[in-house]
Amino acid sequence: MAREPAYPIDPLFVDRWSPRSFTGEPVPDAVLQSAFEAARWAPSASNAQPWRFLITRHGDANWETFLGLLMPRNALWAGRASALVLILSARHIERRRALVDNVSHSFDAGAAWANFAHQALLLGWHSHGIGGFDRDAARSRLAIPEDYAIETIVALGRLGGLDTLHADFHQTESPNGRRSLDETVFAGRIGEPAFTDERNAA
Ligand SMILES: Cc1cc2nc3c(=O)[nH]c(=O)nc-3n(C[C@H](O)[C@H](O)[C@H](O)COP(=O)(O)O)c2cc1C
Repeated sequence: MAREPAYPIDPLFVDRWSPRSFTGEPVPDAVLQSAFEAARWAPSASNAQPWRFLITRHGDANWETFLGLLMPRNALWAGRASALVLILSARHIERRRALVDNVSHSFDAGAAWANFAHQALLLGWHSHGIGGFDRDAARSRLAIPEDYAIETIVALGRLGGLDTLHADFHQTESPNGRRSLDETVFAGRIGEPAFTDERNAA
């Protein structure tokens, strides 16, 4: 399905999508560094930058450990990614020399992931978020302290062909759509129309 934005936006936002077919080729450090650099410049509450990233490159010493965390259905396709990135976020923030809860640690990590995904795309690389993995196993096998929330794994790779993708995923291997703006943005209260024009009506 071709993605048609209902209002003018930079093509970057509709061009980003989450494929499952990847080539498995090595990802250059320059690509990773640019994508993480974009993530680094995301906004965050009190500029706390709660995001942390654990990366494994395809075939390195950590690869099988990361892959082994995924639900079997996700491992079917993510095994051909070039890198897997586990996104963590620090739950606490220092205020007046005391650690207090940072209520927006996950929200801010989400902003960083969006920057990562868009910068990767600008360089010709696709990313695909994976929530289906064993978080308890991730914490213990990767020795992640309780101070860090385990957010999401992201598969990064170059778009491959259907010939390298498990048949179960062939039908869904194309960009999907979105709920309309009038079902998403409201004037002050859920259900109250925010705009009068009908361009984006469902
Ligand atoms: C936090 C998060 C978790 C996700 N978990 C999975 C997953 O476990 N398996 C999967 O195949 N896709 C997963 N996805 C991909 C979403 O289904 C996908 O982003 C969504 O359908 C929108 O499609 P698009 O990214 O192609 O625009 C996840 C995406 C995010 C952001």
